[in-house]
Amino acid sequence: MKKNLKIAVVAAEVAPFSKTGGLADVTGSLPKIFHEMKNEVVVITPFYGKIIDPKKYSLTLVEKNFPIPLRGKKTIKISLWQGEIEKNLPVYFIEYKKYFSKKQNLYGSTHENSRFAFFNYAVLEILKKVNFQPNIIHCHDWHAGLIPYLLKNDPVFAHDQFFANTTTVFTIHNLAFQMGGNWWDAPPEKRDPGTGDLPKIHSKAMEKINFAKRAIIFSDAINTVSEKYAEELLTPEFGQGLEKFLGRREKDFFGITNGIDYEVFNPAIDKNIYTNYDWDSLWRKRKNKLALQKELGLEEAADVPLVSLASRLAEQKGYDLVIESLDTLLKLSLQIVIIASGGKDGKEYADVFKKIAKKHPKKFSFITPYTEEQASKVYAGSDMLLMPSRFEPCGLSPLISLRYGTIPIVHETGGLAETITNFNPKAGKGNGFVFKNYTREEFLVALIRALENFKYEKVWEHLVWQSMKQSFSWEIPAQKYLALFKKAAKNRTQKKRS
Ligand code: GLC
Repeated sequence: MKKNLKIAVVAAEVAPFSKTGGLADVTGSLPKIFHEMKNEVVVITPFYGKIIDPKKYSLTLVEKNFPIPLRGKKTIKISLWQGEIEKNLPVYFIEYKKYFSKKQNLYGSTHENSRFAFFNYAVLEILKKVNFQPNIIHCHDWHAGLIPYLLKNDPVFAHDQFFANTTTVFTIHNLAFQMGGNWWDAPPEKRDPGTGDLPKIHSKAMEKINFAKRAIIFSDAINTVSEKYAEELLTPEFGQGLEKFLGRREKDFFGITNGIDYEVFNPAIDKNIYTNYDWDSLWRKRKNKLALQKELGLEEAADVPLVSLASRLAEQKGYDLVIESLDTLLKLSLQIVIIASGGKDGKEYADVFKKIAKKHPKKFSFITPYTEEQASKVYAGSDMLLMPSRFEPCGLSPLISLRYGTIPIVHETGGLAETITNFNPKAGKGNGFVFKNYTREEFLVALIRALENFKYEKVWEHLVWQSMKQSFSWEIPAQKYLALFKKAAKNRTQKKRS
């Protein structure tokens, strides 16, 4: 019989409770598949007091004033909340108001490392408290990156029998983010070497600690969210200063391309869209387009291609290319809808888009903040989705858009290079339009190729139909994760013995 695993998933954001991007989609859906594959799973995440409404999600307060001892410092008392992602799949929320309930935003504090260092200690204490002895702790991105370090080096956890059989796996969603601040802001000689004792949680020195680097050094296995990005991360161009550290772990470093939740993203049952459809009723997709145009005040015209963007307002996502191309774009026969939120960095983009929307209301629409309801409508109502990211670890929006029969136009990088292939109308193959070099010219050429194909109704319908039939569900990637977990556990026990 196959041995099932006890898996604790740790992440800073988990959909639908808290979300700034694809990380939350992954941590909200992958655990479900682990669970459906008969593993025992718990998810642990911070309780963001201004964002998570306990009533909405029927959360229960499990414990108040539970002490988390911090090395060499007083203890912090937390509250523990519990909800369910699905039946028998609990999600625990750690509440420490001072750190996680002051702001509307998930991130952006000046003592971000302290917040998440505390969270990492608390996760390990909570696992003991709820008596969940994991075979695997699946740590997502830097926010959970000290856990592998603590289990191997902390004076208490490293000798704790409770974790004697615990293996850690670190998943990199975006290596540009390694710690609270920008890793590149400190001069090289002042950067965290990745080893050595941790400073006190609340200290200034804590803000210098590079969580992702420590996770790469101390996890039993590491992966990232596409095979291509895994290759890219080993190069100085993409490795964000950690390529050498990843290189040293190459044997234990893998790429597993994300899936998406096929129950959540499904135009046949999505309650947010105007009318449901699937690949056999594409004429209904057109109704969604007309409804969206009407709702947004765009010209109601089925034959004008509707092109959307749905990603965080961040430089990485290629908004500079879009802005540089706006003059040309607005001269073409098309409509553009952008749905996005962004932290403070996104404000500049938002200001530009707001202005354009005001000037060209029949042609250009900007929706902010991003909500799942509106995003569904945009996916269902658009013909094409632009994702011209400068770099992209995986890129979930094109996978979602394919599910809704909306054809992606992407830069050939990271996960996008892997999941989206150029459409060849003669052969009838491919699921999108891809450009190789990150330039305005190549971006526009790809877009124009898409617009040309759109003119041929039968060709476009074939493209949409076959793209919708592709599967990017979690089933296969989840199996790869389980195989990785088992391999990591085996390596770990072998290393311990030798
Ligand atoms: C990050 C990456 C994105 C990826 C997502 C989920 O947001 O930037 O490419 O799809 O994580 O793994």
